[in-house]
Amino acid sequence: MIGTAVVTGAAGFIGSCLVDHLLRDGFSVIGLDNLRTGTKENLTEALSHNNFRFEQVDICSKDIASVVRESVDVVFHLAAISSVKFSLENPVEVNKVNVSGTLNVLELARKLDAKRFVFSSSAAVYGDPKRLPVKEDTPLSPLSPYAASKIAAEMYCLSYGGLYKMTPTIFRYFNAFGPRQEYSEYSGVIPIFISQALQSNEITVDGDGRQTRSFIHVDDVVRATYLASQQENHLASTFNLSGSESISVLDLARMVKELVPESTSNIVFRDAREGDVRDSIGSMERTSKVLGFSPTIPFKVGLDQTVSWYRSRTR
Ligand code: UD1
Repeated sequence: MIGTAVVTGAAGFIGSCLVDHLLRDGFSVIGLDNLRTGTKENLTEALSHNNFRFEQVDICSKDIASVVRESVDVVFHLAAISSVKFSLENPVEVNKVNVSGTLNVLELARKLDAKRFVFSSSAAVYGDPKRLPVKEDTPLSPLSPYAASKIAAEMYCLSYGGLYKMTPTIFRYFNAFGPRQEYSEYSGVIPIFISQALQSNEITVDGDGRQTRSFIHVDDVVRATYLASQQENHLASTFNLSGSESISVLDLARMVKELVPESTSNIVFRDAREGDVRDSIGSMERTSKVLGFSPTIPFKVGLDQTVSWYRSRTR
């Protein structure tokens, strides 16, 4: 299917890569973003495209109903506050954006008669599961306000799927990484470690560094997310999007140091983060069986490419 798509969080790390992918495939795209963490720079390619329109708008605002009036086939909802750490400091704000904001976008999708709603949820919803790799039907167990907000948003998506002719697809992203991931104290561990290494600052490992993540490259995340709009049969389900390698945070710090050989950074340990998940890797059985998708970018290749991208920006 090629048609018209709305992408929320369009100027963000994953959203902007999805916009580029949709445009290349022939979609008309309306991108919404409040530019709080996303940037117009991420949309450089898209903004020169005739089939792209950008609207600077907050998903919590009533204005989203007035900026999109055309008929829309699919809504990809990626806009969110994505930081566990930020959610511990600002739980009410995270609830507003991630839960009420999602409801506002669902209302928009309903009014526009969108047939599909693709929601970017998080592996954080599983907390510390008993069995790994974790499967989609594992009981949910939020360890942070961020995780709780993603569970609540998933429930709203399911309720709209039941009430209206809108098929929700929920992706539980594990730790996405790659070019365009922004750097700040609230960003993911990979941009933080790369930036620390490039500036020869201390590389800050939380806790003992033995907690593990299964990082997945943004190009793989985008390819899978896009597939949800391409299924012949309407697809209502929840899918993990996980990398296949379990990497400890300490090993990640060492790998980043190796890729930045000129760095004089030391690895230092600080207190473990509150609300942190210990080990996170997802089963990709359902995703591969139903969507025919498996990630293709090996972690080290993706990390190397990401370091090069940060280098090119700091020059
Ligand atoms: C990340 C994503 C979240 C996503 C989830 C899915 C970000 C900011 N968070 O959460 O959106 O839904 O994956 O699994 O992209 N760490 C350090 N030193 C640092 C920073 C972090 O040791 O300077 C550690 C953390 O304590 C944690 C690990 O690195 O153990 C990963 O942290 P982070 O990148 O913030 O990701 P998640 O909390 O897993």
